[in-house]
Amino acid sequence: MKRREFIKLSALGSIATGMMPTTLLASRCDLTSADILGPFWDENHPYRTLLAHADEPGTRIFISGTVTTDDCEIPIQDAIVDVWHANDVGCYTVFQECDTGNPDDDPYNLTGQMITNENGEYAFESIWPGYYGGRPKHFHYKITTPAGLEHVTQCYFEGDSQINEDWEEQHAGRIIPLEESENGLIGVFDIAMDEEGTETGLGDPHTPIPAKPFLNNNYPNPFNNSTQIEFGISKVGYVNLTIYDVSGKWVTNLVDKRLSPGAHRFSWNGTDIFGKNVPSGSYLVVMKSGGFTSSKKIMLLK
Ligand SMILES: [Fe+2]
Repeated sequence: MKRREFIKLSALGSIATGMMPTTLLASRCDLTSADILGPFWDENHPYRTLLAHADEPGTRIFISGTVTTDDCEIPIQDAIVDVWHANDVGCYTVFQECDTGNPDDDPYNLTGQMITNENGEYAFESIWPGYYGGRPKHFHYKITTPAGLEHVTQCYFEGDSQINEDWEEQHAGRIIPLEESENGLIGVFDIAMDEEGTETGLGDPHTPIPAKPFLNNNYPNPFNNSTQIEFGISKVGYVNLTIYDVSGKWVTNLVDKRLSPGAHRFSWNGTDIFGKNVPSGSYLVVMKSGGFTSSKKIMLLK
């Protein structure tokens, strides 16, 4: 039974018996518990819903779910759902030497970021991860809401031989059943964030859609480790966010994708496209979307 169905049934039951105040049962639900980030997260995962190359060895798997606020009901739109996982034999292709079956030699194979839609939904296709280090099979998740709340977790699978009763109890709500289909395995992993929801009936309260595109000053500025760059678009569109040095030399791309309307936030950690640290100094972030162009100065101090 799904959590929210259980909560609804519990609430109905208490009306009938008068045993418990229904508001207590309905006001909060089980938040998705946290898990470790692990050593294999990389901040440059590309935006996409197909994580595994078509030739990637393994069983195809289709995961979808909804990201909600702390009542498990109100969807969070425009949350970034970052997913990464091991390949069929338990190897992480970004960090380890793996036989990927990936003719494009895509270093970010088996990783991807998605943005939740207006119903808080995300979905991706990949392959079922393999075992490594005695751990159950798992997908890593890092969710970032438009309000800036980050949550790191993992999802596991029912019937996994590496899961015992104790372990199951400690990871309640994060061990999902998988259904077999013609095209592969299908699973649903819903995520409830520790963020308060307010029902307004006017769309998501956290992401008011701006009347026109904008680029804000980054924060912090000057920065040392990493700086946040926030911008917004008023309708679905292609956004390019690029960093240049003062001489106009291209440094790296932070965004080069179609995005949904609303505010978006990305970070830059002072590295170029090859992941190398760039020297202290002034840089320029340029945002382009449709006919809109804007730029801001960024100071990197080491
Ligand atoms: Fe892992």
